[in-house]
Amino acid sequence: MPHHAPSSQHALPRKLLTRRRAVASCAAVAVLTAAVILLAAPTSEAPNSALLVGASLLSSLREETHEAPATAAAGSSSPPPLASLVETILSSRIAPATSMFPAPAPSPVENFDDTSNEEPEHPGVKENVSKESTPFIHEPISSGPPTSSSNVSGDLDMSGHAAPPPKREILLWSTAADEELLYAKKEIVNAPLVTDDPDLYAPLFLNVSIFKRSYELMERLLKVFIYHDGAKPIFHSPELKGIYASEGWFMKLIEGNQNFVVRDPNRAHLFYLPYSSRQLEHNLYVPGSNTLEPLSIFVKNYIDMISAKFPYWNRTKGADHFFVACHDWGPYTTKLHDELRRNTIKALCNADLSEGVFIRGRDVSLPETFVRSPRRPLRDIGGKPATERSILAFFAGQMHGRVRPILLQYWGGKDTDMRIYGRLPRRITRRMNYVQHMKSSKYCICPMGYEVNSPRIVEAIYYECIPVIIADNFVLPFDDALDWSTFSVVVPEKDVPRLKEILLRIPESRYITMQSNVKKVQKHFLWHAKPVKYDIFHMILHSVWFSRVNQAQIQ
Ligand SMILES: *[C@@H]1O[C@H](CO)[C@@H](O)[C@H](O)[C@H]1NC(C)=O
Ligand SMILES: *[C@@H]1O[C@H](CO)[C@@H](O)[C@H](O)[C@H]1NC(C)=O
Ligand SMILES: *[C@@H]1O[C@H](CO)[C@@H](O)[C@H](O)[C@H]1NC(C)=O
Ligand SMILES: *[C@@H]1O[C@H](CO)[C@@H](O)[C@H](O)[C@H]1NC(C)=O
Repeated sequence: MPHHAPSSQHALPRKLLTRRRAVASCAAVAVLTAAVILLAAPTSEAPNSALLVGASLLSSLREETHEAPATAAAGSSSPPPLASLVETILSSRIAPATSMFPAPAPSPVENFDDTSNEEPEHPGVKENVSKESTPFIHEPISSGPPTSSSNVSGDLDMSGHAAPPPKREILLWSTAADEELLYAKKEIVNAPLVTDDPDLYAPLFLNVSIFKRSYELMERLLKVFIYHDGAKPIFHSPELKGIYASEGWFMKLIEGNQNFVVRDPNRAHLFYLPYSSRQLEHNLYVPGSNTLEPLSIFVKNYIDMISAKFPYWNRTKGADHFFVACHDWGPYTTKLHDELRRNTIKALCNADLSEGVFIRGRDVSLPETFVRSPRRPLRDIGGKPATERSILAFFAGQMHGRVRPILLQYWGGKDTDMRIYGRLPRRITRRMNYVQHMKSSKYCICPMGYEVNSPRIVEAIYYECIPVIIADNFVLPFDDALDWSTFSVVVPEKDVPRLKEILLRIPESRYITMQSNVKKVQKHFLWHAKPVKYDIFHMILHSVWFSRVNQAQIQ
């Protein structure tokens, strides 16, 4: 792996230089403020924010003098014990017994199609960028249970074992929010059995009792702090249209949210980093440069800035922070900041286990949704009834990535049951466009493109077509809650030649059940301008919450 030298400063965009100066001065202000307040009130018992700043300064000073930093426990030596049931849920994702066919969990990829339909999308930048161009050392990421946080600054150190009494400034970290997480974890493990919930169709869920309890607790307890820092357009500028719309919709809805968002960061369980991976690409990527380095440097500088300016990042080394990124490059832009990459909860469309960035059980697979009309995100939802779907399988799209060319080679123009195309030819679209195809097909093929994720999966769900996912190493969205085997088919990449055989072997009765389930699961993937219970906004937030709760330690 080439290990590039860091770029020299003069090569950086002006806005980065500006930010660097801002970072330096913010840090200086924080230090001075904390010092002044500590001098003024050295004996105060009140856990006010000045003391919090002071505490974290003290701990960073300790670190610098190599005095047994409390943070050492964040290493991998002893994985935090996880409560057995939640652990069961998570490990059931690790070896999903769900698929009807022995299949590695797949995922779809970029999928921008101009074949898509009547309303041509601006072509998403799906440039073939070398992911190695970022100076980044691919260390294997420990795949064990997420290392946490919890002992990091003494927060959450609830071990009943005779640990030395925490120092006073450490005690300050044992906040009500941390105790609420532990409470929630115990409650979820002991969830009452749900037999008949009118709003939750049990067969769609891995364990509907656990999901329902966790969701209720989220509604009751969860508090999210959103950093105000960060300038538009990279921050706070949601893009609501196109194939990366998930990150924009999430940003818009959380920033306008009254139920979960708090102004007081000391009460928060989660800290949202309000940047857009799409805007990073838009504003910082130099077309043709083939390097994501400017994007990674920008993100690193932002994290360095907020971790110097506020005490919250250092408290958990970023483990209670999260961001939501749908652009393919989202994962790669974290590579220059070790804590961001390893500890932060990353909600990513590009949820690819093979890249060494996405961490199963910690990170969240964000559904990629192609929003054609931001004013009417639900336009066109629906499709033909199961019995009137005349096409067995449909795919149309560009030939990105490793799977699609093989798909086309085996099935393109060979078999009238298998409507597999590159771009949908005009002679076809004149009679039936892309969306109409999805509404008339039993199975919609969702092969990966350059990356594992694809908006086709959610499109298929919208148009009530069974998604057939071909993308090894893809972690399916909401796989902490949903049982994908009840409404989708996962086919290993190597089985593309057997695709028709695999689909034909599914009994009609099972197809009918899956199609009915697809309709029932739809509501968990719908965007609403005002979020409603169990919709995609809440499902995403729930996955982040569930990940965070699961990191809390019960001892
Ligand atoms: C937490 O830190 C304390 C001291 O800093 C240490 O004694 C203890 O073993 C740690 N606990 C865990 C679970 O790592
Ligand atoms: C993408 O780049 C890789 C490495 O540079 C190259 O091998 C591959 O053929 C490219 N793919 C496309 C579709 O351009
Ligand atoms: C779901 O979780 C609950 C609570 O932990 C447990 O009692 C129940 O047996 C689980 N149900 C299934 C089907 O695994
Ligand atoms: C957090 O830690 C970093 C690196 O150790 C340090 O530079 C920064 O000043 C710390 N932040 C605060 C608020 O103490």
